Amino acid sequence: MATTTLKGQPFDRPILDSMLRRRMFYTPSFEIYGGTAGLYDYGPPGCALQANVVDLWRKHFVLEEDMLEVDCTALTPAEILKTSGHVDKFADWMCKDPKNGDIIRADHFVEEILEARLKGDKEARGLKVEEKEEDPKKKKKKSKATEAIKLDDAVVKEYEEILAQIDNYGGEELGALIKKYELKNPATGVEPSPPAAFNLMFQTTIGPSSNAPGYLRPETAQGQFLNFAKLLEFNQQQMPFASASVGKSFRNEISPRAGLLRVREFLMAEIEHYVDPEGGKKHARFHEVADVELVLLNRHTQLAGKTDVKKVAIGKAVADGTVDNETLGYFLARIHLFLKKIGVDQSKIRFRQHMANEMAHYAADCWDAELQTSYGWIECVGCADRSAYDLTVHAKKTGAPLMVRERLETPISIEEWQIDLDKKKFGPFFKKDGKTVEAAIEALSQEKREALAQELKQDGKIIIDVEGVGSGKVEVSKDLIAIEKRTRVENTREYTPNVIEPSFGIGRILYCLFEHNYWTRGGDGGDEARGVLSFPPPVAPTKVLLVPLSSHESFKPLLKYMSLKLRTLGVSSRVDDSSASIGKRYSRNDELGTPLGITIDFQSVNDKTYTLRDRDSTKQVRADEDTILAAIKSLVDGVKVWADIEKELPAFEGQETDIPVR
Ligand code: ATP
Ligand code: GLY
Repeated sequence: MATTTLKGQPFDRPILDSMLRRRMFYTPSFEIYGGTAGLYDYGPPGCALQANVVDLWRKHFVLEEDMLEVDCTALTPAEILKTSGHVDKFADWMCKDPKNGDIIRADHFVEEILEARLKGDKEARGLKVEEKEEDPKKKKKKSKATEAIKLDDAVVKEYEEILAQIDNYGGEELGALIKKYELKNPATGVEPSPPAAFNLMFQTTIGPSSNAPGYLRPETAQGQFLNFAKLLEFNQQQMPFASASVGKSFRNEISPRAGLLRVREFLMAEIEHYVDPEGGKKHARFHEVADVELVLLNRHTQLAGKTDVKKVAIGKAVADGTVDNETLGYFLARIHLFLKKIGVDQSKIRFRQHMANEMAHYAADCWDAELQTSYGWIECVGCADRSAYDLTVHAKKTGAPLMVRERLETPISIEEWQIDLDKKKFGPFFKKDGKTVEAAIEALSQEKREALAQELKQDGKIIIDVEGVGSGKVEVSKDLIAIEKRTRVENTREYTPNVIEPSFGIGRILYCLFEHNYWTRGGDGGDEARGVLSFPPPVAPTKVLLVPLSSHESFKPLLKYMSLKLRTLGVSSRVDDSSASIGKRYSRNDELGTPLGITIDFQSVNDKTYTLRDRDSTKQVRADEDTILAAIKSLVDGVKVWADIEKELPAFEGQETDIPVR
């Protein structure tokens, strides 16, 4: 007898994986050549699911907030990624097994072995082992580390503390952990080499000359930043605003694994929201989300070696400083609502704050939306406060004005210490050092200028620090310089905006949707468990299955007619007029996640009424054509759910369902 799994309950991952490949949600690229690790192709249902998720993303973010969408090139000249810091810092730590040459990602290596030892300890103590499933391919390599060996309580605590902050370690620290705990590659029993930095970008040349090096972009963000001035102009100089982009990014991951979760080419959907850094980064629509409750794992908890989470309203988290500012908080809540809308299991989302060393080189604060899967908690959306980092470095490098110039409604008077140099005497006096000394004087702070004004008055000269000139101390006499307090009126304010960046990995989200929405129901007394993917109708690859009761000729015109009607409404449908039983035809499409089914029977031919079937409950209602089409449209648009339709339309208890309800 088949086992029945409920939605969201532990399930058999190999069965789901093989179904996803069999039904061509996705498939390894170049498979007939043996495949290439970390590269996947999507088949028809995968493409449709991805398109629907991206469509909802555009509606939820771009449309809702009038974001400015751009589509920038993936090929990027090296100079840009050098300036952004990616050439020097976009790296993971990699070790090599000296025996078999295995290349291993250092943090994952430490994490896996310590987790395996903790698992072995639990087994030795006769405790229940929490299921974070291993990669099935690795199960064969049962290593020493996974044996049931009891550890000292103190060692267990140490391991747990290390795991809670594993993302915070750099190469040296990971190397020290490998040494300290004698971590060996399970495949060879040998300790790997000390971690070395490995840059994750794919390098190429742009054009035939090798003088124009370039990279495939590792994020869509840089293209957005480089268009900042034009976008601000497009937005009629109005702040705040956001740009958005959906496109492929590329990372030469050290050891791609876990299917779509870690790949080398993936679709990203990124938002760069530009905000005035002054005034606490408020957000005008924050009140709309203030009550949204999020599960938060803050950095202090992790640094204390713990993983306890707190469920808090985002309004409170911003008010008490857990989340730094309203704009960051607004986007965390909006990310949460988006994930909920597309069918992510609410009990499997948490927002984890980055620890200081874990943060990307450009980030001032960062929270990841992590989703729980059979592979553990997986970062699916990063939400970083990139401060003014990117705009500043690109402006400095190119001289382009990547800043906002705002006309002040009321001009402001600024009292300040101003310096006048007698240029005619100053240049000839300092000769070749003139420019350096002048730059050092211009850079003096207001406090320093005030003090120097006193010194000049008293001594008739000042001494200033100038690096690289003489002894580093330079004397300037009062016939070369004057320092006076004056009032200046300013009509404009200039500032470099800060950037809050929600960054979505679409492939990771799709994989989580598979796991969170997959369940099985037992066959009708047989032993075949039938898989169901309970995607919400708005994201489901195909919305409606059209099923004629039999191959009778009289059904054919109605099938054509209903397909056309649905197409006109913009609703995707498929016909299954094979000879299999209706129940079998439905269950084949339950597996594809098709949420609705229309059965065409003899009564339909006579009175144009149809039954409409719900995938999850297998319940049916019956009504006339217009009513059924309106119900379908409202479900597919996410305006109604099946429970609404069941209340509104008469139930149909007839012929077709031969599948027990879960
Ligand atoms: P990880 O630590 O898991 O490697 P990351 O911190 O490098 O991830 P980010 O740089 O924040 O990830 O990238 C933003 C988003 O892009 C991630 O939240 C994730 O959804 C997605 N992403 C990043 N790397 C990959 C990958 N190799 N395969 C699939 N998606 C990815
Ligand atoms: N743009 C965000 C990231 O690449 O991490």
